[in-house]
Amino acid sequence: MKKLKVDAMSATYEILIERDILSECDKFIAPVVRGKKAMIITDTNVAPLYLDKVETALKNGGFEVYSHIFKAGEQSKHLLTVADIYDCLSQNEFTRKDFIVALGGGVCGDISGFAASTYMRGIDFVQIPTTLLSQVDSSVGGKTGVDTKYGKNLVGAFYQPKLVLIDPNTLNTLTDHYFADGMGEVIKYGCIRNAELFDMLENVDVKENIEDIILECLKIKRDVVNEDERESGIRMILNFGHTAGHSIEKLSDFKLSHGECVAKGMMLITLASEKLGLTEGGTTVKLIRLCRKCGLNSDIDYSIKDIAENAKNDKKGSGNSLNIVLISKIGESFIHTIDKNDFEKFLSF
Ligand SMILES: NC(=O)c1ccc[n+]([C@@H]2O[C@H](COP(=O)([O-])OP(=O)(O)OC[C@H]3O[C@@H](n4cnc5c(N)ncnc54)[C@H](O)[C@@H]3O)[C@@H](O)[C@H]2O)c1
Ligand SMILES: [Zn+2]
Repeated sequence: MKKLKVDAMSATYEILIERDILSECDKFIAPVVRGKKAMIITDTNVAPLYLDKVETALKNGGFEVYSHIFKAGEQSKHLLTVADIYDCLSQNEFTRKDFIVALGGGVCGDISGFAASTYMRGIDFVQIPTTLLSQVDSSVGGKTGVDTKYGKNLVGAFYQPKLVLIDPNTLNTLTDHYFADGMGEVIKYGCIRNAELFDMLENVDVKENIEDIILECLKIKRDVVNEDERESGIRMILNFGHTAGHSIEKLSDFKLSHGECVAKGMMLITLASEKLGLTEGGTTVKLIRLCRKCGLNSDIDYSIKDIAENAKNDKKGSGNSLNIVLISKIGESFIHTIDKNDFEKFLSF
């Protein structure tokens, strides 16, 4: 079993990576929670695949188990889904001691974590991420929340899980699309902090080496989160590709998924920063080549003007400035602050 400890300012918890850990999840959950009542929250795609396994393990471990299934997809990441979860918890008399298990991708983790952070002013929760994106990224770090009609993740809380259990076997049922989507975030880690990871991705069969790859990504996420839990500084580097990426995701009306938009965002911003001399020559070609190897293309159906206009509403800016993450070369990132109104000019350079 591979283990990592997260030591954020507000909480300490472990990430455990092991094939088929779902079947014995009770053993790892029992020591970190207080209550005996578990609410498994999952979506309509994941429930038929893994709910039974997790439910059985928890029941065998002596827990009283309930479940709540929401409709799969980003469209469910809003406050009404959270309200349904509060109702389900109340109807089943969940108290402050009881806990939530988030079984699913990033959507499930973000919704469940937010519900856990607010139900009775905060109950325990455990993350069991089942997509590559959620295993390497969203399940760790404590960002939870929902979208509103005005934008993604506009309502939320920083709330750390008690434990993160990663079962790489769950990736076997993921579609090629969502596997590639998760690779968008994986490539991001190589770009911002680990040139060896980037080299590895270029040279090995990704699926055969997925456990090591997940571990390397999580080490970076863990280190960055330990340093800066609330995103006041260094944590911003995790947003590489996200400023333009979020705009593209929004312009597509969320028909394009998060990781594939992040990949497009990374390629677009690096092309611009390389032309401006802020990124080592040849970096964009390397990035595009690796993205293609992983099933991610650089096609963008929207104008630079529209992408820049959308980015103006990005939370990562303050006042009139916009903090964008750039790489000086593969493995090294930095924050570059520009005037919000200059983003279009920056991208079209
Ligand atoms: N909190 C954070 O720090 C953070 C970081 C990055 C992304 N996110 C959020 O994560 C979300 C994207 O996460 P995602 O890509 O995991 O999306 P998702 O949860 O919608 O999962 C993608 C699809 O895969 C299905 N699925 C999940 N696990 C499966 C499995 N093992 N086998 C087959 N199908 C499976 C889901 O039902 C869904 O249809 C976005 O809302 C994004 O904003 C959050
Ligand atoms: Zn992301």
